[in-house]
Amino acid sequence: MIQPLPLFWQRYSCRRFLNTPVPPDFLESILEAARWAPSAGNLQPWRFFLVKNREIQRGLAQAAYGQEFVLEAPAVIVVCALPEVSAKKYGERGRSLYCLQDSAAAVQNILLEAVRLGLASCWVGAFQESAAAQVLGLPSGERPVAIVPLGYPGEPMPQERPRAPLEKIVRRIE
Ligand SMILES: Cc1cc2nc3c(=O)[nH]c(=O)nc-3n(C[C@H](O)[C@H](O)[C@H](O)COP(=O)(O)O)c2cc1C
Repeated sequence: MIQPLPLFWQRYSCRRFLNTPVPPDFLESILEAARWAPSAGNLQPWRFFLVKNREIQRGLAQAAYGQEFVLEAPAVIVVCALPEVSAKKYGERGRSLYCLQDSAAAVQNILLEAVRLGLASCWVGAFQESAAAQVLGLPSGERPVAIVPLGYPGEPMPQERPRAPLEKIVRRIE
């Protein structure tokens, strides 16, 4: 039996989207995937902003140094970490590491669920944090970690997808 290609392999960073709207139940399914990510102590120290608003998207695109596809995507999810929630239980390690790892796990779930639904996305991490926080009206305890534009792909998977060989990146200990 031919197995379908794994989701992790089908995923690629897509920076052009069709105008076609994303069905609302797809977006709910993606948010659900984010909710099921693992988190240290199961604290779930995150908030997810689902943005389908051109003006807010324009502000986010500006905060992201003019990455226009943030504006052009039919929907955007911004993943925010709650450092003080993690710090309460885990101190500095929670504040500066766990809450970010937790949010990163949620982002990856978002990216993979998008692929499963035939959508494309891009993890946008290059943005001015204070500007993005202002655009979203975040309280001081919420830290924007990733901006994820979502939509139907307007460009194909690139032919070249460079990855270091396993020999270079794996140390085997037996
Ligand atoms: C933490 C992080 C931040 C990133 N920030 C950006 C970004 O700001 N803009 C962008 O176009 N891509 C961004 N990317 C996507 C990477 O460029 C991309 O994942 C990498 O080149 C590998 O390509 P692939 O995702 O197509 O496999 C980011 C990825 C990660 C994990």
